[in-house]
Amino acid sequence: MKVVGKRILVTGCAGFIGSHMTDSLLAKGCEVVGVDDLSAGKMGFLDEAAMMKGFKFVRSDLLNDDLGPMMDGIDVVFHFAANPDVRQGPKNTRTHFDQNITVTFRLLEAMKEKGTKSICFPSTSTVYGETTVIPTPENYGPLLPISIYGASKLSCEALISSYAHTFGMSGVIYRFANVVGSRSTHNVLHDFIRKLREDPTKLEILGAEPGTNKSYVHVSECVEAMLIGAERTTEQVGVYNIGSRDRLDVKGIADTVVGEMGLENVRYDWTGGVMGGRGWIGDVKDMLLSIDALEAKGWSPKMGSAESIRRAVREILGKA
Ligand SMILES: NC(=O)c1ccc[n+]([C@@H]2O[C@H](COP(=O)([O-])OP(=O)(O)OC[C@H]3O[C@@H](n4cnc5c(N)ncnc54)[C@H](O)[C@@H]3O)[C@@H](O)[C@H]2O)c1
Repeated sequence: MKVVGKRILVTGCAGFIGSHMTDSLLAKGCEVVGVDDLSAGKMGFLDEAAMMKGFKFVRSDLLNDDLGPMMDGIDVVFHFAANPDVRQGPKNTRTHFDQNITVTFRLLEAMKEKGTKSICFPSTSTVYGETTVIPTPENYGPLLPISIYGASKLSCEALISSYAHTFGMSGVIYRFANVVGSRSTHNVLHDFIRKLREDPTKLEILGAEPGTNKSYVHVSECVEAMLIGAERTTEQVGVYNIGSRDRLDVKGIADTVVGEMGLENVRYDWTGGVMGGRGWIGDVKDMLLSIDALEAKGWSPKMGSAESIRRAVREILGKA
C-alpha cells in the first residue's frame, strides 16, 4: 500500500496516537485531512500540524455527520477515531458498538461511495482474549475477546476484510500492545501520577500484587511500525502485531512512576481487583505479542516495555 506522498484522511487526528501519526505523515510530505469531534482529543495536540501547509482540520462527528465531503480525493484512511476505554464496556454496552463498529461501517461505506481504496486500522491485542500461546502470533485462534471493547475492534477487523474483498479495497490491520507516550490522556500512568500528586505517601493499585503482566510500546515506535507495515504490505489485507519484545507487571510500572517522581517509601495499597486479580472487568492478565511478522518487513522496536514506560512517564511529567 502506498502512503508516502498521498492524500490521507486521519480520523481521531486530535487524539493521542492519531496526532502523532498526523505529524509523521505531514513530515513525510503527505497531505492530511484530519477529522475529530474533540470528544477526547485536544486541538493543542495539533499545534505542529497546524503550521504545515498540507494540513486541513475538519471538526466532525463520524457517528452522525455526512462523511462524503471529507472523503473527496482521499487515497488512504488512517482510522484512529474510537472509544478506546475497555472499562466503558460494562457501564454502557452501546458505546463501543456505536463509536467503534458503526463508525467504522459508516467510514467504509463512504470509502466505497467515493472510490477510496485503502484503509489502515489500529486494532488491539484484546481481540485475542486470554491466549494459551505467548508470545501470541497473528494467526492465533479462535479469537475470543473477553471485553466488549475487544469484541468491537474484532468486528471492525472483520468489516474491513469483507469490504476489501467485496469492493476491491486493501487494508492493514495493526494489533497494538499498550501504547504509551506524550499526549496520552488516559492510562495507568496518568492514574498513578494523579494519585501520587494527591498523596505521595501511598498508591492505590487496582488488582492483586504484582498485577497484570503486559507489553508496552512507545508511541514513536508504534507510528513508525504502522508506516513500515503499510508501505511493505503486499497482501490485500495485512495483519500485524505491534508491541515490544517483553512485558512489565503493574508493580514494575508503579516502581518506575514512583522513582521518576522522586518519591520514597510509598505504600502500595492493592485493591485485590476483580475476577481473580484483574484491574477491572475485561482486563486481560497476561499479554505479549509476537512481532515476527513486522520484523520480517524490516521493523524492530528499539525499546523494551520498561524503557517505553520510563520514557512515557518522563514525557508526562514534562522531564523529557
Ligand atoms: N492507546 C492504546 O494503547 C491503544 C491500544 C490498542 C488500540 N488502540 C486504538 O488506537 C486508536 C487511537 O487510540 P488513542 O489511545 O489515541 O485514543 P484517543 O481517545 O486519544 O483518540 C481517539 C480520538 O478519536 C476522537 N473521536 C472519538 N469518537 C469520535 C467520533 N465519533 N467522531 C470523530 N472523532 C471521534 C476523539 O476525540 C479522540 O481524539 C483507537 O482506535 C484505539 O482503539 C489504542
